[in-house]
Amino acid sequence: MRTVSVPLGNRSYAIKIAPGLIDQLGRECARLKLGARCAIITDTNVGKRYAKAAFNSLATAGFTPSLIVVPAGETAKSLKTVQTCYDLLAEHRLERKSFIVALGGGVVGDLAGFVGATYLRGIAFVQVPTTLLAQVDSSVGGKVGVNLKAGKNLVGAFYQPRLVLCDLDTLDTLPVREFRAGLAEVIKYGIISDAKLFARLERDLPKLLRRESKTLADVVARCCEIKAEVVGQDETEGGLRAILNFGHTIGHALENISGYGKYLHGEAISIGTVAAAGISQKISGLPARDVLRIENLLEAAGLPVVVKLNPVRCKKLLAAMRHDKKVSGGEIKFVLARRIGRVVWGQRVPDEIIHQVLDFRLSTLD
Ligand SMILES: NC(=O)c1ccc[n+]([C@@H]2O[C@H](COP(=O)([O-])OP(=O)(O)OC[C@H]3O[C@@H](n4cnc5c(N)ncnc54)[C@H](O)[C@@H]3O)[C@@H](O)[C@H]2O)c1
Ligand SMILES: [Zn+2]
Repeated sequence: MRTVSVPLGNRSYAIKIAPGLIDQLGRECARLKLGARCAIITDTNVGKRYAKAAFNSLATAGFTPSLIVVPAGETAKSLKTVQTCYDLLAEHRLERKSFIVALGGGVVGDLAGFVGATYLRGIAFVQVPTTLLAQVDSSVGGKVGVNLKAGKNLVGAFYQPRLVLCDLDTLDTLPVREFRAGLAEVIKYGIISDAKLFARLERDLPKLLRRESKTLADVVARCCEIKAEVVGQDETEGGLRAILNFGHTIGHALENISGYGKYLHGEAISIGTVAAAGISQKISGLPARDVLRIENLLEAAGLPVVVKLNPVRCKKLLAAMRHDKKVSGGEIKFVLARRIGRVVWGQRVPDEIIHQVLDFRLSTLD
């Protein structure tokens, strides 16, 4: 088992990474000295596969679990589902010492974490992420929340879990498209802070795509280490944490104008990453060779790297970028790469450059 620590003083916690961890859930929770009552929040896809094992492990360790199953998919990240969860927690008489287990992908993690942050003004929660994206990204760092009609993640909190258990076996049943989408975030970690990781991904991509357990364990652990270090230094995104958004400025805008659902998050981020690399080449000196390596790796991972946008949609994309909740004072700030493994944040990019990069990608397509 690999263990990564997220250093946040008395709110520090461990991320444990290994196959078969769901069976250890009860024992691991017992170490946290929490109350007996708990609720597993999961979705229909994950629940039918893994809820029983999680439930039994908790019950065997002496806990009294209840199970809350929400519909699979982004629509469950809503205040309506939050309300349903609150009602069920109250019905099952969860108290201040009780805890929540988030068993699922990023949707379940964000939702259950938000419920945990607010029910009774906050009860403990444990993350058991079951998608690659959730294992390397969303389960770590304490951003929890739900969507509004007006946009994604507009209501939420910073609320850290007490423990993260990444059971690598759960990735076996993840649909291939979801697995590849998670790889976009994995590749992002290489670009923002670890050239060696990036080179390993280039070398070991076939093993990773076959989901070989040793490679997966190494890679998931390394990504968690990077995220833990960043979050440890800047929990609430005053500065450094922004680097985790490499590729996300354009990626989020693309998700937004395409109507959520056309692209998976990781797919939009893949396109946004290649665009950000192109902008980096023009502004922050990213060598052309690195731009190519980034594009090639994402493509080899089976991710989209170009998008067809007519001029009207291109305008819409720029408008959506301006509406991103991370924009302040109407100014879009980019994370840009100097080379693979090193980025700078808070960079202003003139509209012409964004146009040029997007136009370039257009003209290479048509
Ligand atoms: N909190 C953060 O820091 C953070 C960071 C990145 C993304 N997010 C959020 O994460 C969400 C996306 O997460 P996601 O990509 O994990 O999507 P998801 O939770 O919707 O999971 C993707 C799909 O895979 C299914 N699934 C999950 N695990 C499975 C398994 N082991 N086997 C078979 N099917 C499985 C799910 O039911 C779902 O249909 C978005 O809402 C995004 O905003 C949050
Ligand atoms: Zn992301």
